[in-house]
Amino acid sequence: MAEKMMIQFDHVTKKFDGETILRDISFDIERGKFYTLLGPSGCGKTTILRLIAGFLEPTEGTLTFDGQLVNKIPPNKRQVNTVFQDYALFPHLNVFENVAFGLRINKLASKEIAPRVKEALHFVNLDGYQNREISDLSGGQKQRVAIARAIVNRPQVLLLDEPLSALDLKLRTAMQFELRQLQRRLGITFIFVTHDQEEALAMSDEIFVLNQGKIEQSGSPRSIYDEPINRFVADFIGESNIIPGKMPQDRVVSFAGKTFNCVDQGFNKNESVEVVIRPEDLELKQRGEGLLQVRVESQLFRGVHYEIIGKDEAGNSWMIHSTKSAKINDEIGLYFEPEAIHIMRHGESEEDFDRRLESYEGADHD
Ligand SMILES: Nc1ncnc2c1ncn2[C@@H]1O[C@H](COP(=O)(O)OP(=O)(O)O)[C@@H](O)[C@H]1O
Ligand SMILES: [Mg+2]
Repeated sequence: MAEKMMIQFDHVTKKFDGETILRDISFDIERGKFYTLLGPSGCGKTTILRLIAGFLEPTEGTLTFDGQLVNKIPPNKRQVNTVFQDYALFPHLNVFENVAFGLRINKLASKEIAPRVKEALHFVNLDGYQNREISDLSGGQKQRVAIARAIVNRPQVLLLDEPLSALDLKLRTAMQFELRQLQRRLGITFIFVTHDQEEALAMSDEIFVLNQGKIEQSGSPRSIYDEPINRFVADFIGESNIIPGKMPQDRVVSFAGKTFNCVDQGFNKNESVEVVIRPEDLELKQRGEGLLQVRVESQLFRGVHYEIIGKDEAGNSWMIHSTKSAKINDEIGLYFEPEAIHIMRHGESEEDFDRRLESYEGADHD
């Protein structure tokens, strides 16, 4: 729907000193959703945010807001605010003045400033903190002031550049929840940047997985986790077993010296593929039972489950997550459902990949 579309990257490339940092990036951002740019350090996440905020111009391609070309529109003319990783608060100003700063710059009448600041502080659960000094705040409170300072301008889009990475694990988890709630209450678009896959899975409506300046895959957390497009995504999002295989025919795959039923189709006869099975989709069985036999090489207790590494007869290593434990050097069986097998085609584009997956839905799976 056209009215939902807010930000559009169309074949955007960004070069610095002749070096290509973002290559041919296209994506759409709709109103009122929580998006995450996920990828390793240096893949171009911050560069994308700076293009959206207007601090950088694309080298090639177009960037539009509501259908209007904005390539050359300066930051202060865009309805976008950014929360930075280091918060960038003013240490010599108190909480109120930090939050009021943007409103004063925009020459808002002073009687309007106080209620707007109060409202913004309320949104981030900092009622009554107006007069506190920044130096007296905890990390989580500073984080909230930084968010209040960004939302006080009532932006259409809030950009958040790794805002939680300085926090300890417990606070980080609490803030993930708070940010998600805040996005729903405000009803505006959040574009959140992280290199942490668990954070991305927990928070987002939609994730863009980036690698070396390219979008590898975009989609809901569930779809990216369940159906990774390639080895990079499968490795980056959660733990995976990735094993070389072949497709003798549609919905049949062979790997580890055996042949299995699967739900994947649309491959050439005997096409070489990569097979992905998530560790939690492998079920422990007695020796001689199940579909594959492995020898247990190691086991770690991970709190909720055991992480077991086993080797099959063909020499492939398998990671298994199970609430049952095993014994080192024991032979055990592994069972998995046909749906637990995901087939990745070498070098497949995201368009072809999506088309292939769609073809399964109408297909007869038995
Ligand atoms: N102003 C700049 N000039 C030259 N190179 C830059 C500039 N900004 C970023 N880069 C380079 O672009 C790449 C992507 O950077 P960045 O977008 O900050 O990555 P991320 O945020 O994903 O860690 C890096 O290799 C970085 O060194
Ligand atoms: Mg960055």
